[in-house]
Amino acid sequence: MSMRQPGISQYLGLRVWVIGATSGIGEACAKALISAGAKVALSGRRLERLEALCALGEDHQCLSLPLDVTVASQIDLAYQTITHDWQGLDLLLFVSGIYIPLRADNFALAAAEQTIDANVLGPMRAVAAVLPDMLKQHSGHIAIVGSVAGYSGLPKALAYGPSKAAMINFCEILFYDLQPRGLSVHMISPGFVATPATAQNDFAMPALISPEKAAQEILAGIQAGEFDIHFPKRFSRFLKFLRILPYPIYFWILRNFVKI
Ligand SMILES: NC(=O)c1ccc[n+]([C@@H]2O[C@H](COP(=O)([O-])OP(=O)(O)OC[C@H]3O[C@@H](n4cnc5c(N)ncnc54)[C@H](OP(=O)(O)O)[C@@H]3O)[C@@H](O)[C@H]2O)c1
Repeated sequence: MSMRQPGISQYLGLRVWVIGATSGIGEACAKALISAGAKVALSGRRLERLEALCALGEDHQCLSLPLDVTVASQIDLAYQTITHDWQGLDLLLFVSGIYIPLRADNFALAAAEQTIDANVLGPMRAVAAVLPDMLKQHSGHIAIVGSVAGYSGLPKALAYGPSKAAMINFCEILFYDLQPRGLSVHMISPGFVATPATAQNDFAMPALISPEKAAQEILAGIQAGEFDIHFPKRFSRFLKFLRILPYPIYFWILRNFVKI
């Protein structure tokens, strides 16, 4: 089956909604999109950071739409503002996510619930808001930032890993349904990126990249119409290989080479 889907000829003038724009990877994507001349709707909970980003753009280039991804009505209201002000949306870029390190000996249900609410139901709420219009217009891009941590079980990710595995599955099914309808789905799986979320890690992160590099990979992948956007390749390809190994070899490698 062909994996071809529409890309983006240029970001100039494109109507983009970045959810999770106040920090890290989302902030770097937002800044790159603003510089490229896209119209950018910026969402996250911290209003002052949204407004600082908005100030980087020209008059009327950006919209500051504070919201909490765990509240569907706030997402719906923000989307209504976008369609009212711009008469439509071309790209939903859902970057928002939380990471709470969890192992078996500190597994807390409240933390797991919080993770699933933000990382699984959050993107589902945003997709539910934008899909009906995109289906009607037979065009649009849905891009969701998951993680290579969703490829297979990795230590310290007892809720985060399942939340990202769910997003891989979600994107695969969305692609199956939407590609024949003219819409594009972009499943984004970063390796380690130096952001406030990973600053808490107490281990050496292999193949660590900057948020600016991550944004460059994401925007280039979307522009090229790629479904499976993963980076940095030296790390993401290794993890893709690990997940196809038989379990005894997979766990042997984890126990002997992953020192966390
Ligand atoms: N950094 C990495 O190594 C790495 C690797 C693979 C995947 N990822 C994924 O990349 C994405 C971004 O991560 P990051 O490292 O850039 O993290 P970050 O710097 O902590 O940024 C997280 C963003 O998500 C937003 N957010 C979190 N909870 C929210 C909520 N309830 N409502 C609205 N916005 C919310 C935050 O905004 P507010 O706090 O203002 O709400 C912030 O803009 C996440 O999905 C993460 O899982 C990161």
